[in-house]
Amino acid sequence: MADQNLLGKHFTTIDAITPRQIDALFKRADHLRENPVALGGSLTGKSLACLFFEPSTRTSSSFIAAMHLLGGTVIPITQGVQFSSVSKGETLEDTIVTLGQYADAIVLRHPEVGSANRAAAVSPVPVINAGDGPGEHPTQALLDLYTIKSEIGRTDNFHIAFVGDLRFGRTVHSLIHLLLSYPNVRISLISPQRLSIEKDSYTGQRLLAATQEDEENRIGEHFVTKRLDEGLARFVLADADILYVTRVQKERFTTPDALLTYNEIKDSCLLTPEVVAQMKPSARILHPLPRVNEIPTSIDTDPRAAYFRQVRNGMFVRAALLDAIINGIKVGS
Ligand code: NCD
Repeated sequence: MADQNLLGKHFTTIDAITPRQIDALFKRADHLRENPVALGGSLTGKSLACLFFEPSTRTSSSFIAAMHLLGGTVIPITQGVQFSSVSKGETLEDTIVTLGQYADAIVLRHPEVGSANRAAAVSPVPVINAGDGPGEHPTQALLDLYTIKSEIGRTDNFHIAFVGDLRFGRTVHSLIHLLLSYPNVRISLISPQRLSIEKDSYTGQRLLAATQEDEENRIGEHFVTKRLDEGLARFVLADADILYVTRVQKERFTTPDALLTYNEIKDSCLLTPEVVAQMKPSARILHPLPRVNEIPTSIDTDPRAAYFRQVRNGMFVRAALLDAIINGIKVGS
C-alpha cells in the first residue's frame, strides 16, 4: 500500500507518520542498534543536506552520523548560515531548491514556525523538519518514543509528566501530538503559568479535544507550579513512569520585557535529588538536551536517568527514517 511507504515523503510534522509505520521504523532501529553494520551501505551514493539556521549539537551530528552509518554523504550547512548565501539575502525557498539539486533529502532547522512546510512546498526532494522555531521537532518525538519503548518496554499504558517550558518547547509539542495516538497514555503537564501550553495553540487545541474524548479526563492535566517538590507536582512525579524535563527556551524571549520574564522564571521546575528519590524505581528521566541547570549532574549516574541513552538512540532512529524516506523501504507491512 502506497500509504505504508515513506519513500519521497516530507517529514515536517509528526502527523506525517502512523503508529504502524513507527512500529516498523523502530524494529529497523532496533536491528541497527544491535548490529550497526546491518544496513551498512544502503545509503551509498546518496547525500543529505543539513541546513541549520539555529544552533544544534545532537540533531545535526546524529543526522550526519546516521548518514555515515548507512554509507551516505552529507552536505553540511551547520556551521552557521552566515557562511552561506543566506547572508547575501537569499530566500529560504531559493536555498532549498538549490540544495535539492545536489542532495537526496534536506534536513532543515529554522527559527520560524511553518518554515519546514514552506521549504517542503518548493523542494524537489524530501524535507525533514529538525525544528521550526517553537513549532515542532518530529524526529525528536520519534527518538523520544523509541527511548520510552526501550526503557519501559511499551508505548501504551504509561504516565508521562512533562516539566519545564511547555509553551516554547517544540519537542514537547511533537511528542504530545504523537502520544495522543497511543492508548492509555496519561499526560501531566507541570510548569509555571507563563510556560504552560497556550489553550488556543495547536497543541492546546489537540489536548483539549483529546481530554473531551477521554472519560477519565486524565489527558493533559495541567499543574501550575514553579517548584517540583511542592503541592500536587510532588504526587504527580511520584506516580509518573516517564519524567520529560525541558530547558526554558531562552532564545524565544526576545524583547527586553520578555527577557525580564525569562529571568523571573528561568529557575522554575528544577529537578533535585530529593524529587528523584520520590520517583518510582522503574521510572525514567528523559530530556531532549541541552540542559542548563534543570537536572544536576549528580543525577546522571542514577539508572533512571535515560537522557544520554536517548541521545544514542537518536542516531539509529534517524538512520531508519532516512533509509525509509530515501530508499523507499516499505514500513508498516
Ligand atoms: C531541542 C531543540 O532544539 O528543540 N534540542 C534537541 O534537538 N535535542 C531542545 C532544546 O533546545 O531545548
